[in-house]
Amino acid sequence: MTKADLLIVDDSTTNLSLLSGILGENGYVVRTVESGYDALEVVFSKNKPDLIMMDVVLPDMSGYDVCEQIKADEATQHIPVVFISALDETADILRAFEAGGVDYVTKPVNRLEVVARIENQLTLLAQRRELEEHYRRELDRYEYVNQMRERFVHSATHDLKNPLHLISGYASLLLEVDGAEYDEVGHKYVNLILEGANKMKMLVADMLDLAQMSTGSYINPSRVALNGFIESCISNFSIMARQKSITLDFVRSPDAPAVFIDTARFERVMDNLISNAIKYTPNGGEVEISTAAAQGFVVIAVRDTGSGIPEDDIPHVFEAFYRVRKREHRDIDGTGLGLSIAKAIVEMHNGQLELESEQGVGSEFRIILPGWIQNQPKKKR
Ligand SMILES: Nc1ncnc2c1ncn2[C@@H]1O[C@H](COP(=O)(O)OP(=O)(O)O)[C@@H](O)[C@H]1O
Ligand SMILES: [Mg+2]
Repeated sequence: MTKADLLIVDDSTTNLSLLSGILGENGYVVRTVESGYDALEVVFSKNKPDLIMMDVVLPDMSGYDVCEQIKADEATQHIPVVFISALDETADILRAFEAGGVDYVTKPVNRLEVVARIENQLTLLAQRRELEEHYRRELDRYEYVNQMRERFVHSATHDLKNPLHLISGYASLLLEVDGAEYDEVGHKYVNLILEGANKMKMLVADMLDLAQMSTGSYINPSRVALNGFIESCISNFSIMARQKSITLDFVRSPDAPAVFIDTARFERVMDNLISNAIKYTPNGGEVEISTAAAQGFVVIAVRDTGSGIPEDDIPHVFEAFYRVRKREHRDIDGTGLGLSIAKAIVEMHNGQLELESEQGVGSEFRIILPGWIQNQPKKKR
């Protein structure tokens, strides 16, 4: 925590300068006011203090009343109030706690004691904030997990059930036809069955992959020449690109960088990014994969001239099951899992997966991996 911002409320200017002196010396930011009214004005302003030290006897109202007003408002009730007073009767001290004070210091104040008490309250405050922050994060996480669970159920029911119905439907139709009719429609039914089965296969494979990632699996990295590895990943897509008349280019880094990666897992990342680029780019477009090396890291970029991703969807496409809700996206087969799997794998390698995209212009996905290992030519002895 940066040094705390304190408000001292006391109508005795001697006391004010004594206290602000002590606390200022200890590095606190100190503000001072001399009346209850002025104190409330500061407390209910935008720039609230972290802690208040307040005299019990003020010229316009009692410190207890001021404290009660602070404690009655949700926006200010968390601010600790430490009372300072010459009154040292038990009843006065009890009254201070009743009003919502957290501590009580009697005048004349002892420097060391004041600082120790303030420190103590600020530690408590910091701990409480930390707990609240922790609680908020847990709540966010809970909401996230719950949302995932809902999407998972939704996906399992719709995306798995639909092709399953297709498969069993066409299989029963197939059973009923024979002879000449079989020749006529049989082939078509078998194709539809196959299509349904393939959709299910893809979804089940992705769901299993994702489940494996989220249960924290390990990677098995080895040293690989980056350009050669990327080239082999790209070669799997030459047919798919040709079918859509898409040019598939590779711009290789001249530095011949090497990386330390789990090749089986990383192939999955490249497959996802390259297949997306081809899938979401209309016929005749371009997909360019490039590698670059800079001191300490490597960048692999997959750029396309495709449909692009609307700005509002960009923060979400890495979430599991998320697909852009647009016709030109929905008409293409997909599970919405590829990018979440890719991101998990890249992060397992301590890397980052970035996205830049403009609707109607195209997208660029960039993988940034730390630790470029230079492929030094072997020295001859
Ligand atoms: N290169 C791209 N161009 C346009 N949209 C993309 C691209 N890559 C991904 N998307 C969008 O992000 C969504 C999530 O991608 P992904 O997780 O790979 O799922 P899938 O490809 O199975 O639909 C896709 O459904 C699509 O809407
Ligand atoms: Mg995909």
